[in-house]
Amino acid sequence: MDFFEVINKRRSIRKFKPTPVARENIIKILDAANWAPSALNLQPWEFLVVTGDKKNLLGNNYGKIVDNYTKDWDEAPDKAFMPRREFMQFAQIYGGAPVIIIVLVAAHADPVYQKALLESASAAMENMLLAATALGLGGCWMTGPLEGETYLRDVLEISSDREIVAITPIGYPEVIPNPRPRLDPALTQKVRWLS
Ligand SMILES: Cc1cc2nc3c(=O)[nH]c(=O)nc-3n(C[C@H](O)[C@H](O)[C@H](O)COP(=O)(O)O)c2cc1C
Repeated sequence: MDFFEVINKRRSIRKFKPTPVARENIIKILDAANWAPSALNLQPWEFLVVTGDKKNLLGNNYGKIVDNYTKDWDEAPDKAFMPRREFMQFAQIYGGAPVIIIVLVAAHADPVYQKALLESASAAMENMLLAATALGLGGCWMTGPLEGETYLRDVLEISSDREIVAITPIGYPEVIPNPRPRLDPALTQKVRWLS
């Protein structure tokens, strides 16, 4: 797939086929992440690849978070970015994805340094999602599950000297959503050209 086609085809996938993802493809995705640019070339990212029982535990926890977060969505549908029932179905099993990848960085006391680490890990995260798209796979950048951070740390044995950046399910898309409209597709408001 051409690079710009990959960019345009990437979507947040929330419903996956049960088809397993070959280890070789997971490694390709992680390798793409590992090639991201990073502040001071620190390459600070670390990855947890979660399957099996631990993945199910993460789904149970995120399901509870989304249940609480969306409890008034039926009464106020304009607040909802997707129907509550659909969001719950996604959350409880991470859309049925066979794999979940979690991105970590070292926790740093200096906020300037910490920001640089998070930005570097975000570049890795995007590389990962683009690589997944190029392989016919899909993912969904997620920070909502971090509301259950204490639980995540416990289940995944993440020590306090690590920060959890984001989570993505990875799998073959069962449903590919339509592109979300761009706020400024002609880039007339978001860009200023200076000389
Ligand atoms: C930092 C960040 C956090 C996100 N957190 C969540 C999340 O917790 N749950 C979720 O379903 N989607 C999450 N998303 C995905 C966005 O909802 C999605 O990117 C947006 O709606 C645009 O859709 P698209 O990715 O298909 O273009 C997150 C995206 C980003 C960049």
